[in-house]
Amino acid sequence: MNRGRLIMVPGPTNVPDRVMRAMIKPMISHRSPAFRRLFESLTENMRYLFQTQGDVYALTSSGTGGVECIISNTVNPGDKVVIPVFGLFSERMKEAVIRRGGRPIEIPFEWGEAPSAERIKEAVEAEDEIKAIMIVYNETSTGVTVRDLPEIGKIAEENNLLLVVDAVSILGGDELPVDRWGVDICVTASQKCLACPPGLALFSVSEKAWEVIEETRRPFYFDIAMMRSFSRRSETPFTPAIPLFYALDEALRIIREEGLERRFRRHRICSEAFYDAIEAMGLKPLPEEAVRSRTVITFRRPVGIDGAAVRRVMDEEYGVVIAGGAGKLRDETLRIGCMGIISEAETLLTVNALENALLDLGYNAESGVGIEAARRRFRR
Ligand SMILES: Cc1ncc(COP(=O)(O)O)c(C=O)c1O
Repeated sequence: MNRGRLIMVPGPTNVPDRVMRAMIKPMISHRSPAFRRLFESLTENMRYLFQTQGDVYALTSSGTGGVECIISNTVNPGDKVVIPVFGLFSERMKEAVIRRGGRPIEIPFEWGEAPSAERIKEAVEAEDEIKAIMIVYNETSTGVTVRDLPEIGKIAEENNLLLVVDAVSILGGDELPVDRWGVDICVTASQKCLACPPGLALFSVSEKAWEVIEETRRPFYFDIAMMRSFSRRSETPFTPAIPLFYALDEALRIIREEGLERRFRRHRICSEAFYDAIEAMGLKPLPEEAVRSRTVITFRRPVGIDGAAVRRVMDEEYGVVIAGGAGKLRDETLRIGCMGIISEAETLLTVNALENALLDLGYNAESGVGIEAARRRFRR
């Protein structure tokens, strides 16, 4: 474990010692039997993580590179793509489609709201020749999860559209059975719910997605078809970040040992403890209860108290690092990552630090109400 500060931002997250140690194994050639064994182990465990029988890849790039990779392998100039925009990362997804020469059909929502299947259906039916629905499953900027994703999968299937999902801040922390929900391409990153260091993007590809990829004018470094042909001999086209591949292998083994169901439950209970504590302290989560994320807790800063000061006191006095708001909510909200190794211990330390920092800054609340609310949730 990181013995310095407790890193409670929505990625990177705290990394277990086992995963850190895995990175100092001796270097190997990426054209060797040892690498091929590592590649095969990663492939098997990524299939478990994504709950897919389809193809899976680990890419040497951060999450944004993963999103750019899947967009540039599926969008040709002029292609129409439906994108609900409800925060910073869905805006970025739209921007990546524009840079490819694609035509985003934007469905705008207030920041803090979740896109509904109904609105997406309307947009799909109102336009001809749409190629795909591209959606952020968990908006890290607002702490909103798209609970309608299974229905959106059905809409994509009924209309023969590709469903492309950015699950960067949620895969491994909450339910996302890629095959069962009809997700054609799903992308995530190593540094969030997987409790691995930053530097890798992971994605899955369905049979339907391959048909589209084959007809797309693909980039060179990010050519998924080239990744597929190298994967047939358990290799990557170019030199991968081998220490990070070792780390990911260990992180995925830990996930398998715990089991996805238990992992999702742990994230859910910790998130409920955070929301209970926040509300008990008189603070307000940004999203409505039904669409609150179990991996990114977003709440409004208290009136009259500077969010940056809260973060500074939490960090300097209590050793806990949380994030400020993102994009246009930068000064209005605070965000906590409830990801990866999160347990009762990290949750209570964070709530305690938040409560102390607020009291130190003159916030008017009864001392201990937040921590008591969180503890009650764990005792249930
Ligand atoms: C939903 C979402 N998409 C994409 C990204 C970009 O990931 P990275 O910072 O690894 O490039 C993030 C990072 O926070 C994210 O939360």
